[in-house]
Amino acid sequence: MKKKIVKAILPAAGLGTRFLPATKASPKEMLPIVDKPMIQYAIEESEKCGIEQFIIITGKNKRSIEDHFDSAFELEENLKQKGKKKLLNEINSLKHLDFAYIRQGKALGLAHAIMRARPFVKDESFAVLLSDDIIDPDESLLQDMMNIYYDYECPVIALERVPRAEIHRYGVIDGARESDKLYRINGLVEKPDTEGAPSDLAIIGRYILTPDIFDVFEDMSPGKGGEYQLTDALNMIIQHRPLYGYVFEGKRYDAGDKLGFLKATVELALKSDHISEGFREFIIDISKKLMKD
Ligand code: UTP
Repeated sequence: MKKKIVKAILPAAGLGTRFLPATKASPKEMLPIVDKPMIQYAIEESEKCGIEQFIIITGKNKRSIEDHFDSAFELEENLKQKGKKKLLNEINSLKHLDFAYIRQGKALGLAHAIMRARPFVKDESFAVLLSDDIIDPDESLLQDMMNIYYDYECPVIALERVPRAEIHRYGVIDGARESDKLYRINGLVEKPDTEGAPSDLAIIGRYILTPDIFDVFEDMSPGKGGEYQLTDALNMIIQHRPLYGYVFEGKRYDAGDKLGFLKATVELALKSDHISEGFREFIIDISKKLMKD
């Protein structure tokens, strides 16, 4: 029986410079989309796949992440007394999960952030989720990736076809098609220019990794931008084992910068049970006004 993946690492120690000044003293991962902080979407997505243990990599000014996933005695008592059961259930919906927090120290890159979780993960395979990539809650990307991992017993990363003009923002793969949406990866390039990109398949923020990646991290030196790049580590890992890429064709919201964040907010608000109706009317109204101008 293969060992199930039950741990996820959520790097959240970055500086969030694309959101300044909002992120000067507050974490980007806590910016709310509709009524939940961004990072909660990633936790709920993992929980649906049976993940129960979360290692969140934090840094300076990130204390509110810990508070958010902790119990809030005074608030709970207040809601109980007022009979606000629905809200009480909502704030307690993730109480059964385990959270551990590790500080990165300096934001030296994604590989460096993930490396910090080694003592918690030990010899298990694990998921990594970047919370500013929000996967539509109706999609099953992470579960699909886990199933590939269980079949192949190899690391799997999520890919998306992106327009050539946007390719310079991503890590990009060179790979051979294995089946419908599955590629065996031959190489990866971090943020290539349009001409230098080996394909239009960009890496997005979901990974299933095997524990041997930690030995690779130990041997790394800083890459592009002076950071320890995960892309470089993956390039090293394919020297001794296969790495697969799964092409995601569903809806992803890239909420890592201001425009993407606003688009995600609008789309998810239109899907939200609580406010979709009123919000839809507002959007129609404002669109009419914009068309007139
Ligand atoms: P990003 O590059 O999107 O986030 O990293 P950032 O660095 O915070 O934002 P910008 O680019 O300055 O605007 C993706 C995720 O990885 C985490 C970030 O917190 C984010 O959730 N990260 C990044 C770390 O935990 N440590 C790092 O050294 C870098």
